[in-house]
Amino acid sequence: MIDDWMDEAEKPSREAMEKGAREAGAVAHAALDMARSIVKPGAKYIDAANALESLIKEKGFEPAFPVNLSLNEQAAHYTPSLDDTLKFPDSGLVKVDLGASKGGILSDCAITVDLSGSMQELVAATEEALAAAISTVKAGVKVSAIGQEIEAAITKRGFKPIENLGGHGVQFHDLHSSPFIPNYDNGDDTELEEGEIIAIEPFATTKEGRGAVANSDTWEIYSLAGDALVRQPDARAVLKEVSARYPSEPFAARWLSGVVGSRFSLYSALRALVSAGALEPHPTLIEMNGAVVSQKEATLLVTKDSCEVLT
Ligand code: CO
Repeated sequence: MIDDWMDEAEKPSREAMEKGAREAGAVAHAALDMARSIVKPGAKYIDAANALESLIKEKGFEPAFPVNLSLNEQAAHYTPSLDDTLKFPDSGLVKVDLGASKGGILSDCAITVDLSGSMQELVAATEEALAAAISTVKAGVKVSAIGQEIEAAITKRGFKPIENLGGHGVQFHDLHSSPFIPNYDNGDDTELEEGEIIAIEPFATTKEGRGAVANSDTWEIYSLAGDALVRQPDARAVLKEVSARYPSEPFAARWLSGVVGSRFSLYSALRALVSAGALEPHPTLIEMNGAVVSQKEATLLVTKDSCEVLT
């Protein structure tokens, strides 16, 4: 979306991209390590999100997107609201999905925290699926072959892959580029290339699940969609702030604390901007049968004979 104004000359060399991606990967990895201890029953979502985003900033990076803390049938895209009061329950699966960004170089990774420890098999299914995928990755491998490995690891445990979510290329200023890396064998012959940076993210659900997600009707994450004429003063103020601070990256409503008078006026302004087409909302994604979901994700650098795990 920003390719229009992006000057090819500012694109880093391949060496600089790889070095930057290793750094962004290490920062995201450190944040996931922290998540293992702070995402726990009784803790507030907003405290966890703030702590993880602060860690990324302390290391000189920005969150590549708002930290996602998605519970049970929520597969992805829940992030705390402004003044969120939710606490993690005593049991359930929390997908912690986060990334680090600096100068347009990005990382993306996720783990699943099992709050009570009672759903270890579903967690293991996506861990094993990611490990199987990683062992397959090298230049020239077809994305459908990776999907096949993921699907086999998940079904071996008696679970289902989520078929309409998948991995993606990670390029300069573009967190979700081609190729799409499926979580099942979709027959796509696209081959990985040496030097490509990709994220692989198996999602699994139970037999009761549909194996697919749909948009819910709520969202906390937005991105700038385009020019739109808005007259309402609060909406104009929010749009101006967003255009300056988040020209190309997703942001959370809670990141706009203080831009307008109150929580109510912020959310009213955001609604007006969505209606006007100025902002694109990214709704929370829900398993279509309401079944619980696990996820594991890493960012990788594809090499001639294998890959380097960056996160
Ligand atoms: Co991803």
